[in-house]
Amino acid sequence: MIQFEHVSFGYPEHGGAVEDVSFTLKKGGVTAIIGSNGAGKSTVSRLMRGLLKPVSGRVLLDGQDIAGMKISTLAARIGFLFQNPDRQICRNTIEEELRFTLRLTVPDPQRREACLKETLEALQLDPQDDPMLLSRGEKQRVALATAMVHQPELLILDEPTTGLDYRECTRIMEYIETFHRKGATVVIVCHDMEVVLDYTDEVIVMSGGHLIRKGETAEIFRDAETLRAASLLPPQMIDLAGRLGGEYSGIARVEEMRDAIVRSRKAVRA
Ligand SMILES: Nc1ncnc2c1ncn2[C@@H]1O[C@H](COP(=O)(O)OP(=O)(O)OP(=O)(O)O)[C@@H](O)[C@H]1O
Ligand SMILES: [Mg+2]
Repeated sequence: MIQFEHVSFGYPEHGGAVEDVSFTLKKGGVTAIIGSNGAGKSTVSRLMRGLLKPVSGRVLLDGQDIAGMKISTLAARIGFLFQNPDRQICRNTIEEELRFTLRLTVPDPQRREACLKETLEALQLDPQDDPMLLSRGEKQRVALATAMVHQPELLILDEPTTGLDYRECTRIMEYIETFHRKGATVVIVCHDMEVVLDYTDEVIVMSGGHLIRKGETAEIFRDAETLRAASLLPPQMIDLAGRLGGEYSGIARVEEMRDAIVRSRKAVRA
């Protein structure tokens, strides 16, 4: 679906923010981009949405260079959530905010109404609320709604859960998961490795503007060398399983650990 071919980018007065990055994302996957502060994650996500243009290299959407695609086409096909929700929101009510996105991306008025209704219901938003007066979690839900109200085929989310409490984080991730199950491809920039483990199937690891590894999520989290190079810590369950070793070493999730402990207690008793 998305392909980066030797993509490099630098901001004015700043050296290479992203250097020679190449990868391919398959349709229908959920991919996390992880790495420490300043690693280049937001820059990669903006390049993917066509908000930044590569200094060299190409970004392809279904084999077509996005540099030659119309802005309206990119907006309709790719939903994008900014790292800061205040950058996403510019209208006085949630309804106006969502209609603004829909006007730009969905030509059919009937479909617009259906998208609006579905999103308001699913994210439990009051259309007449002023987005600026909402709590951090509610505001993030509005920002997410504006990014995906038009049901894009690719959804790019730059830190959708940062600063949220457990309940809001789960609510947002469950909604993204539901959207993904309907067929969308999802890319999430995320600092919470527990969220990455629970909701994504592959991971791109960035460090110092370089892609240092891409692979299946649990497998990457077992690769101590890659995590060290990117200054990341593994999720708790993978860390514990690695420390216990032996029969526990391949475990990634709480339920698997529970089952393994029950099994080994039974074996001791027998
Ligand atoms: N608008 C900008 N102007 C100049 N330099 C920038 C700009 N945005 C980012 N940078 C620099 O580019 C590099 C990559 O930044 P980027 O925002 O992509 O990192 P990130 O991995 O998203 O970090 P974070 O986890 O803090 O969000 C950093 O060194 C950053 O300081
Ligand atoms: Mg960022």
